[in-house]
Amino acid sequence: MGDHLDLLLRMVLVASPALGISSCFFDGWRALYRSCNLTQVPQVPNTTKSLLLSFNYIRTVTTASFPFLEQLQLLELGTQFTPLTIDKEAFQNLPNLRILDLGKSQIDFLHPDAFQELPHLSELRLFYCGLSSAVLKDGYFRNLGSLTRLDLSKNQIQSLYLHRSFRELNSLKSIDLSLNQITIVCEHDLKPLQGKTLSFLSLADNNLYSRVSMDWGKCLNPFRNMVLETLDVSGNGWAVDITRNFSNAINGSQIFSLVLTYHVMGSGFGFTNIKDPDQHTFVGLAGSSVIQLDLSHGFIFSLNFQLFETLKELKVLNLAYNKINNIAHKAFYGLDNLQVLNISHNLLGELYNSNFYGLPKVTYIDLQKNHIGIIQDKTFRFLKKLNTLDLRDNALKTIDFLPSIPNIFLSGNKLATLPNIALTANFITLSENRLENLDNLYFLLQVPHLQILILNQNRFSFCNQDHAPSENLSLEELFLEENMLQLAWEVGFCWDVFKGLSHLRVLYLNKNYLNFLPPGVFRHLTALRGLSLKDNRLTVLFPGDLPANLEVLDISRNQLLSPDPDLFASLSAVDITHNKFICECELSTFISWLNQTNVTIFGSLADIYCMYPSSMAGASLYSLSTEDCDEEEVLESLKFSLFTFFTVTLTLFLVAILIVTKFRGFCFICYKKTQRLVFKDPIKGRESDTYKYDAYLCFSSKDFEWVQNALLKHLDAQYSDRNRFNLCFEERDFLPGENHIANIQDALWSSRKVVCLVSRHFLRDGWCLEAFSYAQSRCLADLSGALIMVVVGSLSQYQLMKHRSIRGFVQKQQYLRWPEDLQDVGWFLNKLSQLILNKEKERKKDNDIQLQSVTTIS
Ligand SMILES: *[C@@H]1O[C@H](CO)[C@@H](O)[C@H](O)[C@H]1NC(C)=O
Ligand SMILES: *[C@@H]1O[C@H](CO)[C@@H](O)[C@H](O)[C@H]1NC(C)=O
Ligand SMILES: *[C@@H]1O[C@H](CO)[C@@H](O)[C@H](O)[C@H]1NC(C)=O
Ligand SMILES: *[C@@H]1O[C@H](CO)[C@@H](O)[C@H](O)[C@H]1NC(C)=O
Ligand SMILES: *[C@@H]1O[C@H](CO)[C@@H](O)[C@H](O)[C@H]1NC(C)=O
Ligand SMILES: *[C@@H]1O[C@H](CO)[C@@H](O)[C@H](O)[C@H]1NC(C)=O
Ligand SMILES: *[C@@H]1O[C@H](CO)[C@@H](O)[C@H](O)[C@H]1NC(C)=O
Ligand SMILES: *[C@@H]1O[C@H](CO)[C@@H](O)[C@H](O)[C@H]1NC(C)=O
Repeated sequence: MGDHLDLLLRMVLVASPALGISSCFFDGWRALYRSCNLTQVPQVPNTTKSLLLSFNYIRTVTTASFPFLEQLQLLELGTQFTPLTIDKEAFQNLPNLRILDLGKSQIDFLHPDAFQELPHLSELRLFYCGLSSAVLKDGYFRNLGSLTRLDLSKNQIQSLYLHRSFRELNSLKSIDLSLNQITIVCEHDLKPLQGKTLSFLSLADNNLYSRVSMDWGKCLNPFRNMVLETLDVSGNGWAVDITRNFSNAINGSQIFSLVLTYHVMGSGFGFTNIKDPDQHTFVGLAGSSVIQLDLSHGFIFSLNFQLFETLKELKVLNLAYNKINNIAHKAFYGLDNLQVLNISHNLLGELYNSNFYGLPKVTYIDLQKNHIGIIQDKTFRFLKKLNTLDLRDNALKTIDFLPSIPNIFLSGNKLATLPNIALTANFITLSENRLENLDNLYFLLQVPHLQILILNQNRFSFCNQDHAPSENLSLEELFLEENMLQLAWEVGFCWDVFKGLSHLRVLYLNKNYLNFLPPGVFRHLTALRGLSLKDNRLTVLFPGDLPANLEVLDISRNQLLSPDPDLFASLSAVDITHNKFICECELSTFISWLNQTNVTIFGSLADIYCMYPSSMAGASLYSLSTEDCDEEEVLESLKFSLFTFFTVTLTLFLVAILIVTKFRGFCFICYKKTQRLVFKDPIKGRESDTYKYDAYLCFSSKDFEWVQNALLKHLDAQYSDRNRFNLCFEERDFLPGENHIANIQDALWSSRKVVCLVSRHFLRDGWCLEAFSYAQSRCLADLSGALIMVVVGSLSQYQLMKHRSIRGFVQKQQYLRWPEDLQDVGWFLNKLSQLILNKEKERKKDNDIQLQSVTTIS
């Protein structure tokens, strides 16, 4: 595991601008002449160490082409657009050349002495040069005593008959002959290599042995007396027969890593005509000391009985990307030293207790990307050395088979809940599962020795709190991205979920729909250094919200309106890009803090921008001047004196009518009673219409109790038979588990009216503001006055105007205010009822006037 704190630090750093591509110059030790339309080698100073001449039109290279460049070590002459002729001792003026690259140049003529006089050449790149077998047969490489790497891939070599001078190439370690046409290699071809140790020999993609009928009796062992650290024979179309005959033929040659990928062994899924490898296929490798065997990318369907029995020294077995569906009895029997078993990307559906018998030293089993739905409970328990189990992207629904091992990968399964098993681990990832109940998180947090826990992309949204959080847990990194913690926290539960995490250093809470942080939720995280709250809906941060020792905070892509700079002052770095800053004078302390703080501010300046007012939308906070704010203060004071004047006048007026208002509630009750007697109950007269609900009551969940007492009890039919309305509100009518936005949309469109109860909480609640905007767009869509706004509590016009959607509404339409005087409540509810019932479009003048009077009373 990398250091995620560093990652957090690094993730937003601006990339440095890319360097230019084509250039033709000398910079002190490098001569950069790629793509310079050159037809011959340019004159370069004798201090040049690297000469880069690819992508030009050089046709001929002779002794005279190069000046004496004693210091030159790297010459790139590949990819010439014209065929290349290389003459005798062409590079003799470059006595210290180490690397010569001619790759991708079509070499029409190559003099047999072309590479002479290069005593220090260690790497020769001749891939894709159109070379034939002669290059090996005729001694082109003689005297290259320092040659270590020879790349001859992608040529037209058909025979591997080596010139005897290869025997003297004592430094040669690596030969790449892949993608040629070498169909046969026999013992006498490679005779000059006998007695040597090569670190790499590739004969991949040559149709080797597969297009000819082989007489191994004559061909004998091509690698006799050789030690090959890695032999690559991939992509040669080897079926079981060829593999077996080849293994037998190379009996005794040491091959530590045998790469046999892209083979055709195995019956594949749904076929039986081609054989799966069996007990005899790899028998010949018994004396080859194979430590790594790569059989990935093939068609093996069944791992047969004692298939690898003779590979006693094997440590790494890669069977990825086959079609393995069946593991026969004792399939791995005999792999006494195997440490890493890779069966990822296969077709396993279930695992049985006996599947991994015979693997006493296995430490890592990779089973990702199968279709495993069920695992017998003792399958892994007897693997005493098992350290890491990778079961990512399978179809598991339970984990009761899990042994206590350090590293457990279970992302991308179908886990909806976790059984309460005894488990010990250092690292667990359970991302992309279906965990909903936070009780599962409480359970995981108590796993002894757990240091890293990754739970991204689950559905954590509620808890029963059966578990009490314990103290001093060992966890250091916790990833909870893309869950729904908001749903759990907004109803007041699980606020103590992080309580015991006194060692936690990094916490990711990205994309959890958070519109508030439960007070003190991070209080116990004394070791926390990095916190990511990116992509939530936070509008404010309060002092004390952030843990005391936090260093790096990512709060980008939230809805911060006007943050208090003191909150960030103790950090060393913060990302606050893509928020919704209100660029009014209130923000000036923040802007000047931003201008001169020592805290590292991540992200580009342009991404820290204003959202409101609309005239400033998009402007970078760094481009603003705070000077005007002083002038505005003058204006403010003028406003204040005007305000005082009016208040005094109004007070006098109000005193005058006090007597009248004192008794208006009583009068209204009398009026209602009379009306009821005369006109009968209006409930019965109600006609049905197409809406499921009369109104969708939209309010902050923190106001629920008040709304229930003040409104629901008097209006909603379910609360009392006397009430006439069928109301919709989140706490009762939203589908749990459904996407919140979808719920809101649904409520909006199935209700005749939308009543938004705009309180202090409402303005802080991202969901409410969201719902308000949706409601407004619905009004625009069907041109109705479907949205009714009721302001609750002493919110000033200014506070309302801060929010764009509300400002838009307030500027165009009337709104109600909840009466401050209790005796007005009856009258108000009646008014509200009328508005809800009102079939709209014919909004009458007098209606407006009454509304106006409501706003003035309060
Ligand atoms: C090479 O020639 C092409 C076509 O004549 C031209 O567009 C390009 O600028 C030339 N490049 C240099 C580095 O001179
Ligand atoms: C490079 O050439 C200059 C003359 O042009 C000569 O004085 C100098 O010794 C040469 N340096 C090397 C390293 O050959
Ligand atoms: C493998 O060897 C066996 C016995 O030597 C022979 O019969 C068979 O034809 C060989 N198969 C291939 C594909 O070379
Ligand atoms: C490999 O060679 C050894 C002797 O060096 C011999 O005993 C053994 O039978 C051979 N194995 C095969 C499969 O030919
Ligand atoms: C197993 O093979 C897959 C595919 O090649 C690879 O991605 C994975 O890293 C391998 N696992 C191990 C443990 O090497
Ligand atoms: C917390 O655990 C650490 C070891 O993980 C231990 O050293 C320390 O004493 C514990 N502190 C308390 C208060 O239990
Ligand atoms: C930022 O600081 C510089 C001097 O450090 C000052 O000239 C500039 O006016 C400041 N800008 C704002 C927006 O405060
Ligand atoms: C920033 O650091 C410098 C030097 O370390 C210090 O003088 C200055 O007061 C610091 N500014 C703030 C705002 O902390």
